[in-house]
Amino acid sequence: MNTLLALAYLLAAVLFILGLKQLSSPKGARNGNFTAAAGMVIALGATIPLLHFTSAGIVIIAIGLVIGTVVGTVGARLVHMTAIPQMVALFNGVGGGAAALVAVAELMRLGVHPPFAEVFPSVFSIVIGSISFAGSMVAFSKLQELMTGTPITYPGQQIVNLLLAAAIVGFAVAVLAIASVPFSFLSLMVLALILGVAFVLPIGGADMPVVISLLNAATGLAVAASGFTLNNFALIVAGTLVGASGSLLTKLMSDAMGRSLANVLFGAFGQARAGIAAVAGGGQARNVRSASAEDLGTLLAYSQRVIIVPGYGLAVAQAQHAARELADVLEKRGVEVEYAIHPVAGRMPGHMNVLLAEANVPYEQLKEMDQVNDDFKNADVALIVGANDVVNPAARSTPGSPIYGMPILNADQAKNIIFMKRSMRPGFAGIDNELMFGPKTVMFFGDAKDSLTKLVSAVKAA
Ligand code: TAP
Repeated sequence: MNTLLALAYLLAAVLFILGLKQLSSPKGARNGNFTAAAGMVIALGATIPLLHFTSAGIVIIAIGLVIGTVVGTVGARLVHMTAIPQMVALFNGVGGGAAALVAVAELMRLGVHPPFAEVFPSVFSIVIGSISFAGSMVAFSKLQELMTGTPITYPGQQIVNLLLAAAIVGFAVAVLAIASVPFSFLSLMVLALILGVAFVLPIGGADMPVVISLLNAATGLAVAASGFTLNNFALIVAGTLVGASGSLLTKLMSDAMGRSLANVLFGAFGQARAGIAAVAGGGQARNVRSASAEDLGTLLAYSQRVIIVPGYGLAVAQAQHAARELADVLEKRGVEVEYAIHPVAGRMPGHMNVLLAEANVPYEQLKEMDQVNDDFKNADVALIVGANDVVNPAARSTPGSPIYGMPILNADQAKNIIFMKRSMRPGFAGIDNELMFGPKTVMFFGDAKDSLTKLVSAVKAA
């Protein structure tokens, strides 16, 4: 590698790291994307002219760049916010697939008995990249509702998966120790693809964000291994960063849901959900209090402190602008307003931050769970907008509940609770929420956007 190329890769690596750092706060996230993208442009820009490709190679690279740029730009512009998890799955999956294909090409080039140090990273890339590709495609299909989103299970599933894993280890050893021939490394690839599908099938559709994050980390590691294969420093750094940050994100998401990663991955949740959902149905007959927009508008208008708790329903209804509008009219009347952001509110990490930032909600009003939880007891109103599990006290009080142990927002400690949703249906976890039946709670049924718009008018009229 010549010095110029090494320096360009070093600069790219620094920009990737700075970009990641900026991404860790909502304020810097937008710039973080640009910083990391600039690093990628430098890495690509340096690789193409400084490595000596044939003219046919350059044409193929140019075609790839054009296709990638068009698909990436159009995809990112058209995708709805609620569909981001599946788009991440798709893009992440092709990254893993690309790493596996690069490794296959390298093994073909290296011959039957390549040195261990060269063949090992390729074998690693083929296995992890293929699992990531196939698993991500299943995750995409589930989230995009191209197939059922519920866990697909069958008797002996774990044994089949174990046998597949054992066969993969067998073929990997064969490639490494006996002969690196197309039969062995292509069989390895096919088995890893099958394991990728088999591994994601039993996981429930809405658990996919955690799985996608894990597969994302796996892709990072496959790409880093490609870096060793190709002797490319930029790939090693970028892949390792993705692997490390993806692993941390996976852990954070599982922790925030109060579940172990093993519990997410091995399908126990799907079964627990089905059982509890049946119980949830029985709750429909109980009485709840509801009120008119006018009454609630008066309550809000004469409050001193209101905490808005946004959830998945706010995202579905695209009610972020209406929430901002309500906060604005309340603030004009001197009411202090803040938003309580639960780490797994919605369906993807940072879902609520992204939505509310889109509506230009000031960052200082967005409070993370630990920052805001002590404030609820002093709040006149907790206004729950399309959230459910993240305020469900069963997480504290009901051992055996699928969300038991999940840290929740203390909305139940507010003096009044306005619970906005369309019906008494449960949220993602499929369980009843006692808070809806609590003495301080008033239900306000309807689509979140319509309901917030009605509250804006009611507050103005109060
Ligand atoms: P949920 O518990 O899923 O509840 C959302 C509520 O929104 C539902 O009860 C639904 O009730 C209501 N809703 C849906 N559409 C609506 C609309 N148009 N207008 C008004 N309300 C609407 O949401 P949450 O509290 O945000 O919790 C998130 C859940 O997802 C947690 O269990 C979490 O573990 C899980 N999860 C999150 C992530 C990440 S990373 N965020 C990843 C995987 C899983 P109605 O149908 O009655 O309206």
